[in-house]
Amino acid sequence: MGLQSITTKSQKFYAILLVLTLPPLYYGSYRYRLVHPYGGQTTLQFDRPASTDFVREWLSTRIISPFNPSAIATYCNRTEWHPNLVFNLENANGGIGNVRGNVLDFIFFAIEAGASIILPGRAARSQEDISNVWAARAPFDTFFDEEWFMRTMGQACPEMKIYKPETNQKLADALPGNYLPHSRRIDVDSDATKIAYLEHLDVWLKEKPEYSPDDLTLVNLERTLWDIDTRSLPLGFHRNFGQILRTNPAIARLAAIVAQNFASKYHLLLHPRDAIPKRAYYGAHLRTEADAKNAGWLEEPHSNFSMQTDAYIKQALKHKLKVIYVASGNATDLELFKDKAAAHRPPLNVTSKLDSLPPSEAAAMRDLTWDQQALIDYEVLQRSSVFGGVVKSSFSYNIAMTRNQRIVDSGLVTDPWYVMHQEEGVAFDDGLSRILGRDGWHEMRIPRGMWP
Ligand SMILES: *[C@@H]1O[C@H](CO)[C@@H](O)[C@H](O)[C@H]1NC(C)=O
Ligand SMILES: *[C@@H]1O[C@H](CO)[C@@H](O)[C@H](O)[C@H]1NC(C)=O
Ligand SMILES: *[C@@H]1O[C@H](CO)[C@@H](O)[C@H](O)[C@H]1NC(C)=O
Ligand SMILES: *[C@@H]1O[C@H](CO)[C@@H](O)[C@H](O)[C@H]1NC(C)=O
Repeated sequence: MGLQSITTKSQKFYAILLVLTLPPLYYGSYRYRLVHPYGGQTTLQFDRPASTDFVREWLSTRIISPFNPSAIATYCNRTEWHPNLVFNLENANGGIGNVRGNVLDFIFFAIEAGASIILPGRAARSQEDISNVWAARAPFDTFFDEEWFMRTMGQACPEMKIYKPETNQKLADALPGNYLPHSRRIDVDSDATKIAYLEHLDVWLKEKPEYSPDDLTLVNLERTLWDIDTRSLPLGFHRNFGQILRTNPAIARLAAIVAQNFASKYHLLLHPRDAIPKRAYYGAHLRTEADAKNAGWLEEPHSNFSMQTDAYIKQALKHKLKVIYVASGNATDLELFKDKAAAHRPPLNVTSKLDSLPPSEAAAMRDLTWDQQALIDYEVLQRSSVFGGVVKSSFSYNIAMTRNQRIVDSGLVTDPWYVMHQEEGVAFDDGLSRILGRDGWHEMRIPRGMWP
């Protein structure tokens, strides 16, 4: 009896002991592995191959997750389809922020009209003069994941036909002139309904003597930017539609390697499956390049190099982040920021994609155009613990809006625009992202017009 009771007691005792010790042990080793990953090295050694686990896990982790196309499928299913009507996006242009907006607006206008589309390309910037955004043409996959787009649209919107003509292959003669779709910004104009848009398109088509509904009709669409009140659409549509565009996988892979390398160099708590890790790195978009300067942006208040870098350092320290990943298309300004951060008390480490790639990947990056290289930053900044950008930049604002969807998904109610009434020279702050400066046009167009 006595013996039995001791055994029973000791079984219970061991069970409790297990319960008490295992989770802390498990947790402890988990934290340890975050800092010292298997096969990890304490100093950067570029001759070792990138850890494929980190890269794979990073690439399979998304800010807006899970992707759910059902609202898009429902919307497409309600459309009356006219496969003979083919839309072509004539003039998407600029960097990822603008091109993403142009392409998503275009696809939306095609869905509502029930039109087929030509897989949209874009105008490409001159490498010599980055202010000239019209220098050449580039196909869809130079920015985006074509395979994902075709597969997703095939599933969500199977009625939409997507043409991909070979270079110089002509589908048909386009009707003369570009068609500028009737705005769908119902928040600013109560007449901006789907019905009004379809009537407007119908009138435009019927004005053309060449138009015959039974023949293949090619219409060149004039680009629009944030011309749809995205928040007037079903919640699931608003949330998921932007996800049909993903970054070209080869470029996204370079971003993953960049993150892996600086995480290891600075011993960051950066788990690749954590979409927005809490205490890892500050992401800053330093927008001081020649084209921004030529456009006069840097003369605006709160916008020049010293104002931007002061604000980023201050916010990084406020969030106890000692490493700043900086996106900039200007190597000179990157060095200046690095020196400024090192001289700061307390000092901070500034790093960029230029410091974070092994030779073979660095060579692959140099083969990319200026705007494609910016996609590496676009990916890394989206995943930063806290992000800072500038209001004049659609690139910055897109990052903030996508990250904000994560806050919405988590059920938190925040008003990122309230900060405008509280602080001078800040356009957006939701705790995850902060947008510096003020800009009437962007502040009017983006909050309801940009797709997360
Ligand atoms: C489309 O709508 C029809 C009827 O309105 C329905 O029967 C069908 O299941 C729907 N298809 C999809 C993919 O939602
Ligand atoms: C980089 O910034 C410097 C000023 O710091 C400027 O003179 C130069 O034109 C810029 N270059 C590019 C490519 O933006
Ligand atoms: C940057 O802008 C601030 C005001 O916004 C101004 O006080 C400062 O002198 C500017 N710095 C330079 C280097 O132009
Ligand atoms: C980070 O910055 C500090 C201060 O400038 C410097 O001593 C340290 O070497 C930097 N860390 C790395 C990994 O470069």
